[in-house]
Amino acid sequence: MTQPFNRIAVIGSGFMGNQIALQCAAGGNSVCLHDAREVALENSVVCLSEFLDRMIDDGCAVADQRQSILDRIRRTSALAEAVTDADLVIEAVREDLAVKRDVFHQLDELCPRDTILATNSSSIRVSRIESATKRPGKLLNTHFVQPIWKHPFVELMRGSSTSDETILAVQSFMTSIGVIPVLVRKPSTGFIFNRIWRAVKKEALKVVDQGIATVEDVDRTWMIQMETPMGPLAMMDIIGLDVVRDIELVYHEESGDPADAPPQVLLDKIAAGHLGVKTGQGFYAYPDPVWLSSDFLRQASP
Ligand SMILES: NC(=O)c1ccc[n+]([C@@H]2O[C@H](COP(=O)([O-])OP(=O)(O)OC[C@H]3O[C@@H](n4cnc5c(N)ncnc54)[C@H](O)[C@@H]3O)[C@@H](O)[C@H]2O)c1
Repeated sequence: MTQPFNRIAVIGSGFMGNQIALQCAAGGNSVCLHDAREVALENSVVCLSEFLDRMIDDGCAVADQRQSILDRIRRTSALAEAVTDADLVIEAVREDLAVKRDVFHQLDELCPRDTILATNSSSIRVSRIESATKRPGKLLNTHFVQPIWKHPFVELMRGSSTSDETILAVQSFMTSIGVIPVLVRKPSTGFIFNRIWRAVKKEALKVVDQGIATVEDVDRTWMIQMETPMGPLAMMDIIGLDVVRDIELVYHEESGDPADAPPQVLLDKIAAGHLGVKTGQGFYAYPDPVWLSSDFLRQASP
């Protein structure tokens, strides 16, 4: 019989950490949000508020609970304070194995013995992190996709020794916060969805990199054929081009295949400081990218 979680800590108050914190708080939990950078914690005040407004607009949170949801989220730059009494810690720092291993090593030292530690990594299996801790039975991947409230599923994947009790407890928790826990039944870099998304992402980047089509025409063809509100390159702008590169680097490092290296067009954008929506420029210019214009699907690139 597993105990319900009450206190959640989220490590990394970036794009995903803020959404995870909100989803947990909207589910009635007390959340402590930690980031190593004070500025990220300061930015998260606005970020949480904006995400919550979108959740309310989308009918995924109730307006008169707005303040109580925000009040359930504390912020601290002191890791020990964030996790001292946590039942579950969800890590959402940058996609870098060494950074994640270091965070997990510290979490193992600071958290109560029974605390479950999860990583929101997009591509790193928790089995590559577990030797940084002494609690392999209490570790797992919990991969959320964005925006969480509109795409409410999370992929759960075991490490080499994750206990059934850990999986059951996290499945039950995710259900309690309105997120469907999908179990990845074998070790899989990229879980389920990201393996499929990666194939699309990689080919979309290659088609642009090789000069075969414009960014706009790649997205246009995808949007018309798949009847989606955005194409793969616009989606990468939302995710963050640096995040996309870091994920590709994990696959490349694992396979050693030169075909898996991030394409030059992606590296050039990053070198120019064009990281997508968060910097106002990526494959498109924001806040009013052309792919959102009403006639985008009615004209091809010249
Ligand atoms: N962006 C997406 O759409 C998406 C979707 C699913 C999963 N993910 C995964 O979630 C994780 C976070 O991605 P993101 O897009 O939120 O990144 P982000 O760059 O927006 O945020 C990362 C945050 O982690 C903080 N950080 C870095 N090192 C830290 C440390 N040692 N201790 C504490 N805080 C630290 C940074 O200051 C930053 O605020 C990554 O593993 C990524 O692969 C991202």
